[in-house]
Amino acid sequence: MSILQRACDAFQRMYARPPYWIADAPGRVNLIGEFTDYNYGFVLPMAIEQRTAIAASPNTSNRIVIHSEAVSEPVNIDLSQPVTPDIRGSWSNYPKGIAAKFLEAGHKLRGFDATVCSTVPVGAGLSSSAALEVAIATLLEAICGVQLEPIDKALLCQKAEHTYAGVPCGIMDPVIATLAREGEALLLDCRSLERHWIPLRDQAITVLIINTNVKHRLATSAYAQRREECLTAARVLRMPSLREACLERLTEQASEMDPVIVRRARHVITEISRTVQAARCIREQDWVELGQLLDASHNSLRHDFEVSCPELDAVVEIAQGIGRRGGVLGCRMTGGGFGGCAVALIESAHEASIIEAIHRRYCDRTGIKPTLFASRPAVGAQLIEV
Ligand code: GLA
Repeated sequence: MSILQRACDAFQRMYARPPYWIADAPGRVNLIGEFTDYNYGFVLPMAIEQRTAIAASPNTSNRIVIHSEAVSEPVNIDLSQPVTPDIRGSWSNYPKGIAAKFLEAGHKLRGFDATVCSTVPVGAGLSSSAALEVAIATLLEAICGVQLEPIDKALLCQKAEHTYAGVPCGIMDPVIATLAREGEALLLDCRSLERHWIPLRDQAITVLIINTNVKHRLATSAYAQRREECLTAARVLRMPSLREACLERLTEQASEMDPVIVRRARHVITEISRTVQAARCIREQDWVELGQLLDASHNSLRHDFEVSCPELDAVVEIAQGIGRRGGVLGCRMTGGGFGGCAVALIESAHEASIIEAIHRRYCDRTGIKPTLFASRPAVGAQLIEV
C-alpha cells in the first residue's frame, strides 16, 4: 500500500471522516558533499523512495491536532496562544516550528486534524526530520491558501529546525525534500542556492543504502561542535567561509591553528572539490571514478572530520572488500554520521549477492542486523486534494 493510502486510511480510522488533503515529502541520501552545506560548498543528494505523508482535514476549533503512527502522544497546538517550542524536545517541535514560521510570515492558520505516516527510518541519517517538516509545510500552504517559492519553503523549514528542534543544520535536507526530481540527483551550490539537476538513470548502476541500525549519542552535540570548528578555521584563514579556502592557503597557515582544526578544514576543502568532480562523473557516466570519490570521501570523514563510527567503518570496509570484481564501485558513510547509513554505488547485476554478503559479514562482525535497500532518485514534496 502506498504511503498516501496509508495516511488516508489512518486518518479515516482516527477521525471517522476522510481527509481533505494529503501532503508528502521524501527522505534523502547524500551521494557526496558531507558537512559542506553549512560551509557554503556543494552537496549532491537525491531523494529516496521512502516518504513521510500527512493527511489532514479542517476542524471547527482553533487547534492543530496531529497523531503519528510512530508515537503514541499526539501533538496539540493551540493557535490562540503563541506557539513556543517544547523544552522536553519532543517531536511536536517539528510541527510547532513550521506552524510558528508560517504565522511569523503573516499567513493565517486555522485548526485542523491530521495523521502522519512514514517509511523514512528515523535517526538513520536519511533526513526523516526534513521529510516531516517539508510535508507539514506543504500541507500548511494548502491550509493557508498560499504557495511559497519552493526555495523559500526550504529556508523556512531550515529556520524551524534551528529554532524549534535546536539543530543548527544546513540547507541540503529541506531543499532536496522540497525540490527533488524523479531520476535526477541534485548538485546544489549552498552559497548561491543554484541548482544543477543531473540525470541518474543508468539501469546498470544502483544506489544501495545500508543502515547500520546504530545511532550514537554524540551525534547532535558533535554536529554543533564541528560547525564551530569550521567557523574557527575560516576565521583564522581570514575567509568568509571554507568555500573560499584552498589547500595551499591552509598548508601555509597550518601552524597558526590547532591540528584538529586543520583536519576539519582539510575535509571540507577536499570534499567540496570531490563533490564537483562527482557531479561530472555522473554526467559522464564514469562510475569507476565516482566510486573512487565515494571511498575518498569516507576516508576524509573518518580521519579528518572524525564523524564516522566502528559500525559505519565496518560496512564501508566490507563493501570495499567486495570491491569492483564483486560489483561494488565505492562506499561511504552518508548524512550526519555517528551511526545511521552508508551509501554504496554498485552494479545492478550484482545487487542480490552484494546485499547478502554485506548483511552476513556485518552481522558476523558486529552482532547487529543491518537493513539494506536500493533506491532510484524520487520526486520531492507533493500535495493531493482528496
Ligand atoms: C545533517 C544536516 C545537513 C548536513 C549533513 C552533513 O544531515 O541536516 O544539513 O550538514 O548533516 O552533510
